[in-house]
Amino acid sequence: MSSLRRATAENWARAHRGVEAERSDVALEVLRGALPAGLRGTLYRCGPGRIEAHGTQYGHLFDGDGHVCSFRFDDRGARMSNRYVRTREFLAEQRAGRLLYRSFATPKPGGIRANAFDPIFKNAANTSAFVHERRLYALWEMGLPHALDPDTLETLARDDFSQRLLAREDPWTRVAGRELPFSAHPRVDPATGELFNFGLVNGPAQRLVLYRAGRDGVMREPEQHPLDALHFVHDFSLTARFRVLLLCPARFGVARTMLGLDTPLSGMRFDGTRPTRVWLCPRDGSKPLVLDAPAGFVFHHVNAYEDEGGRVVLHALRSDALPVMPIPRDVLANSVAPPRAELPYYCEMVIDPLRRTVRSERRFDVPCELPFVQGERMTRAHRFVWATATDPARPQRVFTRIVKLDVSERSVTVREFGPGYAGEPVFAARDDGGRGDDGWLLAMGYDHGSQRGALEVMDARTLENVCTLALPEPVPPGFHGAWVSAPCVASEAPARAS
Ligand SMILES: [Fe+2]
Repeated sequence: MSSLRRATAENWARAHRGVEAERSDVALEVLRGALPAGLRGTLYRCGPGRIEAHGTQYGHLFDGDGHVCSFRFDDRGARMSNRYVRTREFLAEQRAGRLLYRSFATPKPGGIRANAFDPIFKNAANTSAFVHERRLYALWEMGLPHALDPDTLETLARDDFSQRLLAREDPWTRVAGRELPFSAHPRVDPATGELFNFGLVNGPAQRLVLYRAGRDGVMREPEQHPLDALHFVHDFSLTARFRVLLLCPARFGVARTMLGLDTPLSGMRFDGTRPTRVWLCPRDGSKPLVLDAPAGFVFHHVNAYEDEGGRVVLHALRSDALPVMPIPRDVLANSVAPPRAELPYYCEMVIDPLRRTVRSERRFDVPCELPFVQGERMTRAHRFVWATATDPARPQRVFTRIVKLDVSERSVTVREFGPGYAGEPVFAARDDGGRGDDGWLLAMGYDHGSQRGALEVMDARTLENVCTLALPEPVPPGFHGAWVSAPCVASEAPARAS
């Protein structure tokens, strides 16, 4: 392995040693540059705070214990708070001093006898920080959201949206704990204030559950759609008329997982012999239109909208095979690039509901992930997208670049961090009246020069460094975050039974 690759892998492993201390409102040291005077608001980040617990290294990043950071920018400078999410599983394992639950890629200790016929998986609460109705949530796609105090980050409730997220009649879900899955990528229509989301109920047969809450915050009765084949779906997008889902063909070792012989991940395979199913689900709850597209794998949508001809234009990051995300020992052993088929590329799909056609093309020849588009662009055409990326000439399983994609100009701006790295970039607007990239970009990562965990503040137009803030200890950059320019106050959030 080259020294550059080795250094990147070592930096990645250092940042994932596990967060040891929970801190409240600590001032952050400025390593480089100066804090911009106009940056005011709070960045929330969610991810696995540790990938080893109670003597066991988790089998995947996706299993790490959920941990949320807040970075507050105000007249006092930049200040950070961080806390693990107190899920009931996290608390029970802390009390027991050992792993008690199965996870997506991690069996609990004790072999087949301990895992067989145990349908209860740990809610990791580690995928996304989401702010809605002045509430802060830590989301995990296979279970209930956790509501947090946006100021102290204390865990407030396992929120079932007034019991709408509890299964009532379905025997399989009742066995598996009654809780319905709520994906980590809810969408809020900026025009109507409505909240939409989905969940994929796994088991011997899958079921797609679609959620909708009005501007009043009241969740409607979820729509239930049985699926005729097994799929993987992590994200979706919203247009003026539709919820758009890409159901990627997959096989799951359901029987072996129930027998404790597999984890969900070890039993999962991409099935390139079947098409990707495109679901256009009308927002009014009427019958979905299902079309076929070439087999492919999509973790993340970018955005979607409808053109003047009523066609749905969907932008998403698509690979030809299931991408693998690393755990530290895999990164350190990774002397070869990930297979090219695993690299996700920015694609445009044009879905015509009248002609029942789907056309797809690659828009940028840059492999990238964790895309960020301003929420206010949802249901409308967007111009700017920011994302993490690897060097396509020397791809690694660690994101060493931030890229800015200008969809109108078809141009790409690259900021190189190697052998350091950066996680998902989140945009903080300076002026909503600008062309859409006037502001800052914030990304957690690891600064190779100082050997410190860092929060990078970039000029969102140029990706140039504005300020690098040192974290008190390295923190994994996690998956998804949110920027809030107005303060959230937990006591002002509407009451809801949980
Ligand atoms: Fe995601």
